[in-house]
Amino acid sequence: MFKQLSPAQLDPILSLSIAYREDSRTDKMDLGIGVYRNSQGETPIMQAVQTAQTALLAEQKTKAYVGLAGDEVFNQSMMDLLLSGTSAHGRAAAVQTPGASGALRMLADLMAIAQPETTVWLTDPSYVNHKPVMEAAGLKVRFYPYFDRQTKQVNSDAMLAEIAKAGPKDVVLLHGCCHNPTGADIRFEDWQAVTELANKNGFLPFVDIAYQGFGDGLAQDAAGLQHLADNVEEMIIATSCSKNFGLYRERTGAAIIVSDSLQEAQKAKGRILNLARATYTMPPDHGAAVVAKILQDEKLTQVWQQELNSMHQRLLNLRQGLVKAVNAQGSDAFDFIAKHKGMFSVTGLSPEQIARMREDFAIYAVADGRINIAGLQEQKLDYLANALVTVSQS
Ligand code: LMR
Repeated sequence: MFKQLSPAQLDPILSLSIAYREDSRTDKMDLGIGVYRNSQGETPIMQAVQTAQTALLAEQKTKAYVGLAGDEVFNQSMMDLLLSGTSAHGRAAAVQTPGASGALRMLADLMAIAQPETTVWLTDPSYVNHKPVMEAAGLKVRFYPYFDRQTKQVNSDAMLAEIAKAGPKDVVLLHGCCHNPTGADIRFEDWQAVTELANKNGFLPFVDIAYQGFGDGLAQDAAGLQHLADNVEEMIIATSCSKNFGLYRERTGAAIIVSDSLQEAQKAKGRILNLARATYTMPPDHGAAVVAKILQDEKLTQVWQQELNSMHQRLLNLRQGLVKAVNAQGSDAFDFIAKHKGMFSVTGLSPEQIARMREDFAIYAVADGRINIAGLQEQKLDYLANALVTVSQS
């Protein structure tokens, strides 16, 4: 049966991690997959997570099934984190999913049954998994202008002019903060403009927020999403605890539906539960139980926020440090890195230049030119700066 299959396509991010592991050079640097590393190059378990899971180990009496929606305390906590203080808070429903990719897929499947002719509009470029997930659910995908490759910032005029063409059969996907891969975020005025367009032209806004806390802080990073949620009848959200709780391998995320009434939101939630049952039945428990424990405990929440804040501060320092190191090589070609937000920056390097970084310097970055700033160590900034300047001038 399977002999007729053509070989699998390699994922541009996950395949890099394998190649990196197999590289025997001792000075190698992994700036591929979006994982936070400390100054020793490790991805430690966050202190709040450690405390919460130690408590869970002592308390948990069973491994019996939880339920199709996962942990409802976690679901409520995710809605509180994102929607507290907005009118959407009382007309939203959440389902725990295996990571944000699981949320993307469940929401895509939901759109496919509600409106099979849906087209999902993605930023150009977008997270590498957006298009495959939407297409796997049978939806059409198109891209809207977003990143200006000259300025390395968002081209808001071009973006809004294109989004103005979206109508009731369209879904416009926005990155809540810390745009992946570019690091270039839209301004609050852009969120306002998109909100107006959604109300005027009837498209459904879809926000993927996977890096809350890594841009301008927890509250500020949700400000655009909250403006939308406050002002539209319907929207959908995919969120992740991989990065801001460091729970990568626990696959912890949520799909949230905001509707004009709680009843409608809960109806949509019910349909997601049917979809989940037919896909994986229910999500893994551990990560969500840890997050629920942290967010239900004031002291643990404080520990978590402080820790997240120091990761965020360190990221800002790394961005500035890298620009300084490049400047010391006599170049200002990468100054934009200090203006980007979150874990990533698109450098503007071509696939050939990225290949040279890997071959000549043992530096692994995604072929689209993205580097993971959160994967950097302070003592390696000069080495990276030299590599960036060398390959960009070749
Ligand atoms: C990334 O963009 O590196 C992460 O979100 C990991 C992933 O799932 O690709």
